[in-house]
Amino acid sequence: MAIRPIITAPDPSLKRVSESVDQVDDDLRALMDDMLETMYDAPGIGLAAIQIGVPKRVIVMDLSLREEGEPPEPRYFVNPEILWASEELATYNEGCLSVPEEFGEIDRPAAVKARFLDYDGKQQEIDADGLLATCLQHEMDHLEGVLFIDHLSRIKRDMIVRRLVKARKAAAE
Ligand code: NI
Repeated sequence: MAIRPIITAPDPSLKRVSESVDQVDDDLRALMDDMLETMYDAPGIGLAAIQIGVPKRVIVMDLSLREEGEPPEPRYFVNPEILWASEELATYNEGCLSVPEEFGEIDRPAAVKARFLDYDGKQQEIDADGLLATCLQHEMDHLEGVLFIDHLSRIKRDMIVRRLVKARKAAAE
């Protein structure tokens, strides 16, 4: 396993649409292992493969509030599809490892039903609500090249991108 560098906005590669995975094999599992390690190290609760520069439809997640000594609860989603979404919306103050230090209130369907392949390549379905529903939709946006800031008004988004560019320049000096 290895920690990989996380790409941050406004890097254009984050706008790429990721490709479906043909087969969940050992190479893909190695990628998922790296993604999980990278996410824990950051730390974050979700990561899409494109955030480490791999345009594949793969997401890892761990929503457990990890106390010391508690086991991790990793989740893996390969080729996820939304089968159903509630009309009811929920608002979360979202953040993203590719948009560091920034947050925004985003409305999304409060509950979704999704189908995906798991770590072993087995097809699974999940009924998600709460943080799981929000996080899954946030990560699935990454597969379409969409960031949470793309759901904000243009003014707010431009302001955040300006701050990110400035912060990156300051860090490079
Ligand atoms: Ni994100």
